[in-house]
Amino acid sequence: LLIPALALFCSASSAEPTVVAAKKQDHAEYKDWLALSVSHRLDKKLVRIILGNEKAIAAARSGTTTPWPDGTILAKVGWKERVSPDWSEAVIPGEFASAEAMVKDSKKYPETGGWGFGHWEADKLVMNDKEKSAVCFACHLPMKAKDYVFTTPVLQ
Ligand code: HEC
Repeated sequence: LLIPALALFCSASSAEPTVVAAKKQDHAEYKDWLALSVSHRLDKKLVRIILGNEKAIAAARSGTTTPWPDGTILAKVGWKERVSPDWSEAVIPGEFASAEAMVKDSKKYPETGGWGFGHWEADKLVMNDKEKSAVCFACHLPMKAKDYVFTTPVLQ
């Protein structure tokens, strides 16, 4: 479907027929990761998937998540909740909300439990400054016994 649409656009915008390579979509690394769990925030009306990079998945599978090893990256990807137009009892992802990250590097982030906090802007992982990370960390603090992570992996 994409190709005819592009072709139409090109022929309308230029007199000479040219072949234009389709622009590669921004592809953030987390889109290739495996799922650890899902969540549904009733207060914020968001559905989320929690993903882990290879290091995170290996740690989950071997049960070595207290603490999670350095090199772990956890992604929390959220969408606004939406009632399925095809099945009214199902809540499915609507509009994309955000993709947030926790990066484990105990040397780099000693003040926030060894975790760096950030988010993806399209395909780029942008880490928060110390002040902003401290706000994230404060809410994760009650999970100290689980290395500041709320998610219990259910899909190791
Ligand atoms: C008000 C409390 C609160 C704040 C502030 C907060 N989080 Fe969380 N975070 C949670 C809760 C609760 C979860 C569990 C899953 C969910 O909410 O969907 C979570 C989960 C996560 C996860 C998945 C790993 C885990 O712990 O389960 C990541 C990644 C994450 N948060 C990143 C961030 C980042 C980055 C910030 C700051 C920009 C932040 N969080 C701020 C409450 C918070």
